[in-house]
Amino acid sequence: MFVDQLIADCRAALKQDASHKSVREVVARAVSDPLAVLKALGEPQRGEIQILHRSDDLTVLNVIWAPWMALLPHNHQMWAVIGIYTGREDNIFWRRVPGSAGGKVEAAGARALSVGDAEPLGRDIIHSVTNPIPRLTGAIHVYGGDFFGVPRSEWDAESLLEDSCDGAKMARRFEQANTLLGRS
Ligand SMILES: [Fe+2]
Repeated sequence: MFVDQLIADCRAALKQDASHKSVREVVARAVSDPLAVLKALGEPQRGEIQILHRSDDLTVLNVIWAPWMALLPHNHQMWAVIGIYTGREDNIFWRRVPGSAGGKVEAAGARALSVGDAEPLGRDIIHSVTNPIPRLTGAIHVYGGDFFGVPRSEWDAESLLEDSCDGAKMARRFEQANTLLGRS
């Protein structure tokens, strides 16, 4: 019911406004009652990406970050909204170094997200995400397109050079984080 309503509200918002402004309001409203989200989606058990909705113009994910998990810098190629309903997410924002061979990035900013925050990310954003706390973090991620259907990039954690990325590669990182914590 909660998920159906969330999708319906996102769809209505998209109709009003193709940017992420109205969808951000929908996500902000949802995470303003974090207990209701936890009740609907269930208490997080392990690091994972749950697909709540996937279509050409809208993807809604329940993203569970393992404790202390860090995800490489990556892009989305579409706008996104992140709403936190339990735990914390630290985002580092990156920009391409002009003229760099290999598509190197450098840090450009940061944003610490807490329960109740609904952060809009523009189409060209490159970000890395860390869960800085010793328990699972849960977030609703909404994307203005088919998140798993477009070629995307990630950047190596040591060299900060560009590489290709896809949903399967990302899913493996969550499994690695679970294995490290003995939650596999
Ligand atoms: Fe992301």
